[in-house]
Amino acid sequence: MMENDTETVNKIYNLKKERKAVILVHNYQLGEIQDIADFIGDSLELSQKAARTDARVIVFCGVHFMAETASILCPDKVVLLPDLNAGCPMANMVTAEQLRQRKKELPDAAVVSYVNTTAEVKAESDICCTSANAVRVVESLNNEKILFVPDKYLGHYISTKINKEFFLWPGFCPTHTRIMPQHILELKENYPEAKVVVHPECRPEVIALADEVLSTGGMCRYARRDDVSQMVVSTEIGIIYRLRKENPGKRFIPVSEQAICPNMKLITLEKVLESLEEMAPEVKVSGDIRLKAKMAVDRMLEVA
Ligand code: 13P
Ligand code: SF4
Repeated sequence: MMENDTETVNKIYNLKKERKAVILVHNYQLGEIQDIADFIGDSLELSQKAARTDARVIVFCGVHFMAETASILCPDKVVLLPDLNAGCPMANMVTAEQLRQRKKELPDAAVVSYVNTTAEVKAESDICCTSANAVRVVESLNNEKILFVPDKYLGHYISTKINKEFFLWPGFCPTHTRIMPQHILELKENYPEAKVVVHPECRPEVIALADEVLSTGGMCRYARRDDVSQMVVSTEIGIIYRLRKENPGKRFIPVSEQAICPNMKLITLEKVLESLEEMAPEVKVSGDIRLKAKMAVDRMLEVA
């Protein structure tokens, strides 16, 4: 670590104590941010952690919808997102108004929204899900028709596991769709012993090549197994830092250097420090939207 970084980290630790703050970090964050995490995880694990923390301030090192979910669950806490530009392009592929229109066309369908959505869209949904619990969430519903928003690839993946009628929104993750079958086929040839783990936001042709289809948290658990010594990792490459740190001696092969989410990389040590100094930028969901969105998130957490 550079001398400046050490100084910044020490300031963060001191201020964190003073503010009674907790630092929650998504698996795709930069290594320097992963290193200062109180808790690191996938979207589901982070929302569960946010729901239970007794800290007064949550510094959310991830993207906007994750900070919103924390605010939905913890109305009395201050939720800081160190860079407000850290959005999720997929979450912006569906608006509440568009969803209201589609619901009119499908009155019998249950609306299942991926957590990668705005609070307004969650407020229009029956239940949320993440990549870790999507199949269980849809299985828990009595409806035969499912309107799934916004990720068409995650929705398609679930539809291959459950015998219900799916209506998929045409959204997708720009980072995961850059991963092509050819990337995996080449790596399989170069690393024949490696297990191939794939995030369900990937294209179906990529998922077809997987040994396991897992959330980022699922990948971290899978990597610890004794029978896994090499892993081709088909998701955003930030996770490689955590996998290598937690599993010295094992080999982790990123699927493609292009699998980068630029939004996830906007959070830096300097911005974390500044957010704790200024107690801003804050992400706050309030009023009716929060109450309605909370019902969808709570239903998901009950299933999980
Ligand atoms: P996970 O919930 O698996 O961490 O995925 C979040 C995400 O944004 C994937 O792109
Ligand atoms: Fe959104 Fe994709 Fe980035 Fe995840 S990796 S935050 S889904 S753009």
